[in-house]
Formats: sequence, structure tokens, C-alpha cells
Amino acid sequence: MNAAQLRAAARARAQRWLRDRGYLVERLTPDELRYMTSWSDAPIPAGQPVPQRDDPRLVALRRRYDELDWPVTAHSRWSDRSFVDFARFRGDSLYIWHYRESPRVSALKYFMFLRYVEERDHKGWLDALGEDGAFGCWTFEFPGRRPVSRDLLDSVNELTFLDRHLQLSGWDGLRALDIGAGYGRLAHRAAQALPGLRDWCCADAVAESTYLCEHYLQYRGVVPPARVVELPDVPSLAPGAFDLAVNAHVFSECPREAVRWWAEQLARLGVNWLFVVPNEADGFFTHEADGSRRDYREVLEQGGYRLVVDEPAFADPAVRELLRVHDRHCLFERDRP
Ligand SMILES: C[S@@+](CC[C@H](N)C(=O)[O-])C[C@H]1O[C@@H](n2cnc3c(N)ncnc32)[C@H](O)[C@@H]1O
Repeated sequence: MNAAQLRAAARARAQRWLRDRGYLVERLTPDELRYMTSWSDAPIPAGQPVPQRDDPRLVALRRRYDELDWPVTAHSRWSDRSFVDFARFRGDSLYIWHYRESPRVSALKYFMFLRYVEERDHKGWLDALGEDGAFGCWTFEFPGRRPVSRDLLDSVNELTFLDRHLQLSGWDGLRALDIGAGYGRLAHRAAQALPGLRDWCCADAVAESTYLCEHYLQYRGVVPPARVVELPDVPSLAPGAFDLAVNAHVFSECPREAVRWWAEQLARLGVNWLFVVPNEADGFFTHEADGSRRDYREVLEQGGYRLVVDEPAFADPAVRELLRVHDRHCLFERDRP
């Protein structure tokens, strides 16, 4: 045996030894390795304006938020923001996970996700909204289709749910308050998809998120109808200013007293509908500073919000199981006297 054959035999022996103990070892191609070890796709193109951690605008926002001694600013999961990648905030991050596994498994999952959304996308939003991969967003391409991302697929799935229950696409003059808007994912998509949108107002209790959102919405050219409100100004929003509030993957990441603060704001504002996407497969649970989880449905009920729709984000249990995504789309309605 020559040296190469000896190495191959040793590798085969090691693989057998591991396989017999329940481990599967695969050699990745350089592209696969890059895919599995990077947090974001594609380098940032030259000339793309990139948000900066030391931007005076962010420093000023942080100062304003830090001065507040409100329950909504007592964070649990979001107390450490050192992880925020300002140039690649649409990559794999706490704002949005991309369910990444080996490239082939990811491609199969995303294709199934795409097919599921495509079948229900009666407005043609997938094609109309598109995905350009800006700010490090992972994109997936399949023959005969435009590139997709989790940002796009989640957003179209959520807007389709809202259209089915509230006929959002035909709503002239719609006004929405997005609580915990992140970098403005759904604001951007709603502004692209809904011709009758009058106002999509993004609020967040984390200064870094407000800063990124401001930057992203401007970059996308969707201001107005989208806009950002700074947290200290939320109590000054006028009652009757919003028809719908949106809360995608937020209350599950806050302490219960923060949810109570928002429920009080919603009741004060008299918002009729509240759309919630919880992180958990069942129930509604916060994330407390000590790591415990507490029910927040009763907090919303105390604020006058009654759960009227609770659906899995993927109606087909086989899709849920194969994607391993158990998100739900929930709609609360305000009790009216
Ligand atoms: C997982 S991200 C979801 C972002 C966005 N809703 C989306 O679905 O793309 C959670 C967001 O909640 C925000 N957040 C954390 N604590 C909050 C609080 N107490 N009140 C409002 N927003 C909060 C974070 O800044 C972040 O933008």
C-alpha cells in the first residue's frame, strides 16, 4: 500500500469505529465548510452604508433608553447586546435564525418551506417582494424561482395569515404598531406588500434594534409608510392611532412585567387586534431574568385581549416535523364594551 492508500484505510477504520458508536463523520467541501461556520452570507458590497456601533445616533439612543426606569427596559434575554453584528444584522442572529444544517439538508428544508408558502401565496408576494441578501442575509436559490430567505418566507407566511383573518391586503388606511420590530423585517415586507398601508410604526425596547431599524427602513426606502418611534415616546402615541399591533417572537423573549407594560399601552391606545408569534409550541411563556418561564396570556387577558385564533405557522404536521419549526400565528381581539 502506498501512503495515500494507508491514509484512506485509516480513515475508513476511524469512520467505522465512530459509526458503530452512533457518530457519523463527513468531510465537507470548502463551500460547505464556509456555509456551516459563517454567521452570514456574502460579503457586504462596497458602497452599502453600514450601521456602526459607535455611531453618535446610536450613542444618543442608548443614553435615552438607559435613562428610563420602566419595567419594559428590565431585560432578560436581551440584556447582552454585544453579539449584534451591525454590518450583517440579517445574517444568523438573535433577530432571525436560519435553521442552518448541512447545505443539502438546509436546501431541502428551505425548498419545502418555499413550496408550503408558495401554495398559499395567492397575492404573488413571494415574487413581488423578492430577496437581495443585503446585510448578510442567507439566501437560497432554486431553478425557476427567485432567491428566497427566511426573512421573506416568514414574512409572506405571516402576512398571508393576517390577510386570511383580517383581509389586510384590501384594508385602505391600515395603521399598525410593531412591538419589538427588530431590524424592521415585517415593516419592510408590509410596506412592499400592502398598497393601502398608511402607517407601520416600529417600537422596540432595545436601543440597538431601534437604531438598526431606522437604518434599514431608510435603506429600503419605505419611510413612510414605515417609521420608527423611540421607546420614550411610546406613551405619547395617541389613543386610536392603530388598528393592529404585531408581536413576532418578542414577548417570549421578555420578562412578564415588560409584557404587562405593553399590554397597558395597547389598552390605552385602544388597539383592536394583536397578532402574536410565540417562540413556544404550546402556551404563551415569557423569559425571566432567572431563566424561568411565566405565562403571559393572562397578562394580555387582564389588558382586555382575548385569544381568538391560534394556528400553527405550518398547518401540515409533516412540514412542521421536517422543518422542526413549531411557530404559531395567534390573533387576540380586544374586548369591546
Ligand atoms: C427575535 S427578535 C424579533 C424581531 C422582529 N419582531 C422579527 O420578527 O423580525 C426580538 C426583538 O424583541 C426586542 N425586544 C426585546 N425586549 C423587548 C421589550 N421588552 N420590549 C420590546 N421589544 C423588545 C429585541 O430588541 C428584538 O428586536
